[in-house]
Amino acid sequence: MMDKLIVAIDGPASSGKSTTAKLLAEKLGYLYIDTGAMYRAITLLAIRHKILDNQEAIIRLAKESDIQLRFEKGQTSVFVDGIDVSEEIRSMEVSKQVSPVSKIEEVRKIMVQKQRLMGEKGGVVMEGRDITTVVFPDADVKIFLNATIEERANRRVKEYHSKGIDISLDQVIENIRERDRIDSSREISPLKKSEDAIEIDTTNLTIDEQVNLILQKVKEIISNRN
Ligand code: DC
Repeated sequence: MMDKLIVAIDGPASSGKSTTAKLLAEKLGYLYIDTGAMYRAITLLAIRHKILDNQEAIIRLAKESDIQLRFEKGQTSVFVDGIDVSEEIRSMEVSKQVSPVSKIEEVRKIMVQKQRLMGEKGGVVMEGRDITTVVFPDADVKIFLNATIEERANRRVKEYHSKGIDISLDQVIENIRERDRIDSSREISPLKKSEDAIEIDTTNLTIDEQVNLILQKVKEIISNRN
């Protein structure tokens, strides 16, 4: 019988988490959960309501909004109160504001609670910044993905260009650097490698290679249990 594991993946911005997690989830028949998309959705709402400077109002929005992730045909769609915001949450404007919003303790509590509910039954690949440390510290498989900042920025630029969005490498490097700085230095659940997480440097790996490394690990654990 196929066990339904919890696979937790953390890492800095553009380290390959979503591509890897998505493919891995597909191969395993698991649910893919992109927790960054949830923080991005709240940030988008805060921008639209013009309340970025009002923490109380952001917390209220986080409490009252219905954020849903749907994973169909290899695509994650993000819905807020029934409206698809999948494209908008990837904009540079959201990327610039998301780290300050995700520093807010109450916002994190609300998101972590939702993430635990989504993942507790297993059969999930969940990725973010605090999945291996806070959301599921006892996950069956814990991975920390990393890559050099140049490689990460190059990947992000390619992604923007493929969508027809004109953006320079310097702008992307600056955004990634700033997000990493805030995400790693914040007081509540900073991004850090959990001691028992397996670190994978993806700088010189193909996507297939990084997916297979984790897949092997998952299969090992499942066969040891049966
Ligand atoms: O994975 P991403 O780059 O789309 O995430 C966007 C931001 O959301 C990231 O810079 C910090 C925040 N985030 C977080 O604080 N905790 C998570 N588990 C996931 C993302």
